[in-house]
Amino acid sequence: MKIHSSTGLHGCVTVPGDKSVSHRSVMLGALADGVTHVTGFLMGEDCLSTIDCFRKMGVAIEVGVDHDVTVHGVGLHGLREPSERLYTGNSGTTTRLISGILAGQAFPVSLTGDASIEKRPMGRVITPLRQMGADITGVDDKFCPLSIRPSRLHGIEYTLPVASAQLKSAILLAGLYADGPTTVIEPAPSRDHTERMLRQLGCRVEAEGCRITVYPPEKLTASDVAVPADISSAAFFLVAGAIVPNSEVTIRSVGVNPTRDGVIEVLQNMGADITLFNRRDDGEPVCDVTVRSSRLHGVEIGGALIPRLIDELPVLAVAAAFAEGETIIRDAAELKVKESNRILAMVTELTRAGADVTETADGMIIRGGKPLRGASFETYNDHRIAMSMAVCALACAGESEIQNDAVVAISYPDFFDTLRQLGGEPV
Ligand code: S3P
Repeated sequence: MKIHSSTGLHGCVTVPGDKSVSHRSVMLGALADGVTHVTGFLMGEDCLSTIDCFRKMGVAIEVGVDHDVTVHGVGLHGLREPSERLYTGNSGTTTRLISGILAGQAFPVSLTGDASIEKRPMGRVITPLRQMGADITGVDDKFCPLSIRPSRLHGIEYTLPVASAQLKSAILLAGLYADGPTTVIEPAPSRDHTERMLRQLGCRVEAEGCRITVYPPEKLTASDVAVPADISSAAFFLVAGAIVPNSEVTIRSVGVNPTRDGVIEVLQNMGADITLFNRRDDGEPVCDVTVRSSRLHGVEIGGALIPRLIDELPVLAVAAAFAEGETIIRDAAELKVKESNRILAMVTELTRAGADVTETADGMIIRGGKPLRGASFETYNDHRIAMSMAVCALACAGESEIQNDAVVAISYPDFFDTLRQLGGEPV
């Protein structure tokens, strides 16, 4: 994919449904009694992996036109033993959340994903699930493939070593099958979609600050899900609209759950002209967002903010490269164990464009404001690196190339079409 320097992005777009909420709508819809109608479902490869896994366990799931999905719930104890190993593709969310569910089933199952998944840390899930009594093993007790056999689970109190919603959710989902309440304590609040959806399905979930307790329910009752547009996908156009001169971009119905909206806070702190309007609530808070070209300045990003914008850090690094002054990203070592090592990937690719960036142990330091030039950018088989560098290319001088651009299909199959719609003209 070739991308030219842009003279301005204009228009009003809808970005695809939230990836985290889409995954959970299928998982919890499958475990509920009754039928769940999901609207705005993300038809990205990761969420299709979740659908595939549950179909293999006997759940009827219809994928309609226009992002509608219908899940025919089988109840908490209605999943069936799959005839083959479950395959989670590139999806960390599928792999970790499903492990918690599988720990509570009455049948044995094994699962794995692609080459990236087989390198991602699973010990963080194996350890607490074993404490709950799960019979779960992995390669060196750390990696996929995972094997899970039936066992009786008991409730535990567990302090997470990292602020990870995938880990928190795996434990809470296993807690649905435990003989008593399960409590998770987070170092900082991470996305709370699992807790919200469980409550919507009638499950008792209590949250007091960073302490979350789930009480094993008799049953979950199906409830329809309206998936908001993914703020993590909107983030690419928020940054593009801010750094490309003469731009004004509106994104409709963006999910602005307070555990996810750190990217808006940081961009506004950097001086971005961003307006939120039409605020409403549909299980998750949503609003429309307009961004206009802005003069950005550097900021520090760290601490409890990190889990609220973890997936947006690559594109925020692009914003920082076009901002005046220094941006420091710290406390973000988790970026090294995402779909790629996102610290190394962004430092390497921004440097290729001529940016002044230094890698640190838990983040990076970006001295922004240097004029950047187009280049052929690597994507490390990572959808968010591909889209971040596409945004960067719009504000670089001359022409750029995004290698292996098809990887965007993991979370945003129509990304380049949206860019074209805004006048970004990829060829
Ligand atoms: C997700 C949690 C985050 C995020 C991922 C989706 C989720 O991962 O990076 O894209 O849906 O729970 P971690 O829990 O590993 O931080």
